[in-house]
Amino acid sequence: MPERRIILPGAKMPTAWYNIMADMPTPPAPYLHPATREPLTPDALTPIFPMSLIEQEVSTQRWVDMPGDVVEALRQYRTTPLLRALRLEKALGTPARIYYKYEGQSPTGSHKSNTAIAQAYYNKQAGIKRLATETGAGQWGSALSLACNWFGMDCTVYMVKVSFHQKPYRKTMMRMWGAEVFASPSDKTHAGRDILAKDPESLGSLGVAISEAVEDAATHDDTNYSLGSVLNHVLMHQTIIGLECIEQFDMVGEYPDVIVGCCGGGSNFGGLVFPFLGQKLRGEAKKDTRYIGVEPAACPTLTRGQYRFDYGDVAQTTPLVLMYTLGHNFMPAGIHAGGLRYHGMSALISQFVKEGRIEASAYPQNPVFQAADLFAKAEGLIPAPESAHAVKGAIDEALKAKETGEEKVILIGLSGHGFLDLGAYENYLDGKLVDFALPEDELCRALGELPEIDLKM
Ligand SMILES: Cc1ncc(COP(=O)(O)O)c(C=O)c1O
Repeated sequence: MPERRIILPGAKMPTAWYNIMADMPTPPAPYLHPATREPLTPDALTPIFPMSLIEQEVSTQRWVDMPGDVVEALRQYRTTPLLRALRLEKALGTPARIYYKYEGQSPTGSHKSNTAIAQAYYNKQAGIKRLATETGAGQWGSALSLACNWFGMDCTVYMVKVSFHQKPYRKTMMRMWGAEVFASPSDKTHAGRDILAKDPESLGSLGVAISEAVEDAATHDDTNYSLGSVLNHVLMHQTIIGLECIEQFDMVGEYPDVIVGCCGGGSNFGGLVFPFLGQKLRGEAKKDTRYIGVEPAACPTLTRGQYRFDYGDVAQTTPLVLMYTLGHNFMPAGIHAGGLRYHGMSALISQFVKEGRIEASAYPQNPVFQAADLFAKAEGLIPAPESAHAVKGAIDEALKAKETGEEKVILIGLSGHGFLDLGAYENYLDGKLVDFALPEDELCRALGELPEIDLKM
């Protein structure tokens, strides 16, 4: 019988993060100051980030040791299991061997706790009393609320309005862990009030909620800002996922041919893929693995966006990042995978896609929910709508393997569970889910508002 649950003993949990910037053939472009458009100096970020995290953002050191308190907190739920999807394989009739790395067993329900714990720790060390952040579906806000609670800090969460109403129990979780939660756009900030003045019915977006949280942090001395994705240090904190996975595959003598993950800002995908990609870049990989990032067709950053410098938020307060973007003014449709409704993408993931080292694909939400349905019936687990994108991408790869008869090994990044997304599943079961096709003129409008910056600088 093949091993179904591959469990790495807690004592073998990695205690250093992997930094892929040490192995990149071309270093990433510097971030630019939003006002001067000159390369950003570290001190420009100190009003909202602690120096320890700013240093991690630009570090090229291959291994970064985790502080003891972070290791201790991560051990609350790590290591996470690698599971063989035997029933899904059978349901598909594929010769592929499908595995999934399950991050939904963290207390908050997703991979987001992996960086929330690290970020809360470093901010606490810097004497910060409160963290402000945005959240889409609520997974990141939940993760930061609990981490702040563990490290004795307050937490303010600006939750994208459409998700605030779609997922009310997420708000309850955050409040249970001591956070205050506002629907964004809110009347608490200039950025929120500006948007509400233009559009009182605004559904909100991650780009808007980020503007509110950054403004809150920048205008309070005891408060910093914390971002749940996109930034280099966030992806580095998530590499614990891929590092565990490499060891787990070693335990059963396997190695993935294809790794599929969902991409919002790129953190769970980067965290899973980078340790494997690093092996490839160093010439140490056992296979020429393909990596596929899956995104919603309603917010197709990697597949229909442009590789340009852009702001991370609507109010243009964040640094300019060279990344795939749909334009900072892009307002995605109110799809249920709220964590994938972001106009931009991690600079590192973007660069690897541009270089042809990482592939990307996009699906509308109905086929994604059908894939989640099949997965739930076979494996029992109900994935988060974000993670369901990875499931859909992996099922398509498994069906291709069925056609060709290839026995490939497919790894799915199952970033979280969907137990608080049941309203979305209810809509799906009732046939009420709408597929939003993004019209070309809407995309052109948002891309037309990108800042003009010479890529050769
Ligand atoms: C379960 C889950 N997966 C994936 C994502 C997407 O974020 P990222 O691309 O940073 O992993 C989110 C974001 O909220 C999420 O909640």
